Amino acid sequence: FKLPTIGNEPMYKYTPGSSERKKLLAALEELRAQAPLTVPCVVNGEKITSGQAKAQVMPHEHQTVLCHYHQADEATVQKAIDGALTAKKAWEALPFNDRAAIFLKAADLLAHKYRYKVMAATMLGQGKNIWQAEIDAAAELCDFWRFNCKYAEELYHQQPPMNATGTWNRTEYRPLEGFVYAVSPFNFTAIGGNLVSAPALMGKWPCNVALWKPSDMAVYSNYLVYEILQEAGLPAGVVQFIPGPAPEVTKTVLDSPHFASLHFTGSTFVFRHLWKEIGNRIDTYKSYPRIVGETGGKNFHVLHKSADVTNTVHQTIRAAFEYQGQKCSACSRAYIPQNLWARFKSELVAEVNQITVGSVEEPSNFITPVINKVAFDRIKSYIDAAREASDAEIIAGGECNDEVGYFIQPTVIVTTNLNFKTLKEEIFGPVLTIYVYPTDQFEQILDTIDAGTQYGLTGAIFAADRQAVVTASNRLRNAAGNFYINDKCTGAVVGQQPFGGARGSGTNDKAGSASLLYRFVSARSIKESF
Ligand code: SER
Repeated sequence: FKLPTIGNEPMYKYTPGSSERKKLLAALEELRAQAPLTVPCVVNGEKITSGQAKAQVMPHEHQTVLCHYHQADEATVQKAIDGALTAKKAWEALPFNDRAAIFLKAADLLAHKYRYKVMAATMLGQGKNIWQAEIDAAAELCDFWRFNCKYAEELYHQQPPMNATGTWNRTEYRPLEGFVYAVSPFNFTAIGGNLVSAPALMGKWPCNVALWKPSDMAVYSNYLVYEILQEAGLPAGVVQFIPGPAPEVTKTVLDSPHFASLHFTGSTFVFRHLWKEIGNRIDTYKSYPRIVGETGGKNFHVLHKSADVTNTVHQTIRAAFEYQGQKCSACSRAYIPQNLWARFKSELVAEVNQITVGSVEEPSNFITPVINKVAFDRIKSYIDAAREASDAEIIAGGECNDEVGYFIQPTVIVTTNLNFKTLKEEIFGPVLTIYVYPTDQFEQILDTIDAGTQYGLTGAIFAADRQAVVTASNRLRNAAGNFYINDKCTGAVVGQQPFGGARGSGTNDKAGSASLLYRFVSARSIKESF
């Protein structure tokens, strides 16, 4: 009873005139015509629309409401907790293969039946262009669901322990005692699917159950993902869908003695806050909760004097500006040796000046809107700070306009100050800051990069010289959980580059790997003597 062969979901190209482009544009039109939609909470399979409704708007056209979603109140969250604990017993009746079949079927439903619908929801709701939506809401989400099955299967078929004569040793992977609280971000529709599927697959007799609180800015696409799981056969109550006000929902969840794990992707600030809240309640829990989180980053590209400039310019633009720099992996600081600077600058500025900014519905736009007003104001304030500073200069972009949508031009800042704020702080927007270093101070700049921020998520070295690659790899060992050599620091693929970082960037449990799944089981060793 092996699983079918698991591989990456093939990505569509959406070339002009292709049938996939036509189908996607039709899905966008259809969704637009249906908006505003209504999204309920779903608890024990029951749609609840009694909570206060809130609007999710389209970031490229913020006067247009995509959906009104009903927010979970305290009673709904409590009902979700009780129902999940009850559902856990029924979930027990399903052997691993049947649980895996649900997620494999969900991936196929997404790939072949709902691809364009979920992509359209991600484009209109989260401001992604076609290709960013394809990477996320089609390919990566299918990959998470399929590969998590593969990793779970590998875990169950692990080498058993050795047995001394007359004994039989077994390891049993128990689920966590209680429920998992999954808190997902706006920037990847796929992440919500991973946050709930990883624990739900894990454990035997019975398995994990999860409460899923999606980001306010991604409710509609996440609801579609939830509906796909239901259509694929996920029993009622195993995952409870509870959008709502973060402080209130979280308080009720963390106050429960059955809280067993936090599976989180979002900001460093919120993750630390939740960790403290969990710490404050530690005496009330049955077990030490498993805290799993992927948080912020201040990711870097560093060029050695031997780097290929044209390739690096191209990779840096993609890493810094795809999805408006709102990937946790996005490159937001680059260190260029003086000997390459003149060429790098002229090629970079020429390429950035050609980037088009605009609506998600026009496929030629590389840059689409940032997610909301708060993000727009925050990013703009960093650009304004650079404009006013004597030790920084904006060499490309810099325009911000939120009249219709939250549009920010791809912006490149050069600073001579290693402590300049756009070189140190996470911006989460289309802003790249460059520092030009003396060509012979490569090793010193590596140490500066390593010590420069509180984060450790992604980074890349560009060099033809192998010794420089080795030096960078060694010196930057702790500066990035995902390290790239002559490639951009974004775009980790499930099954190829397990993703996550340490330091202020998270618990580094690696999304898209077996090690993540281990966090949601609690092993029991059994020894029997004959
Ligand atoms: N996994 C994504 C990337 O590597 C970010 O979340 O770009």
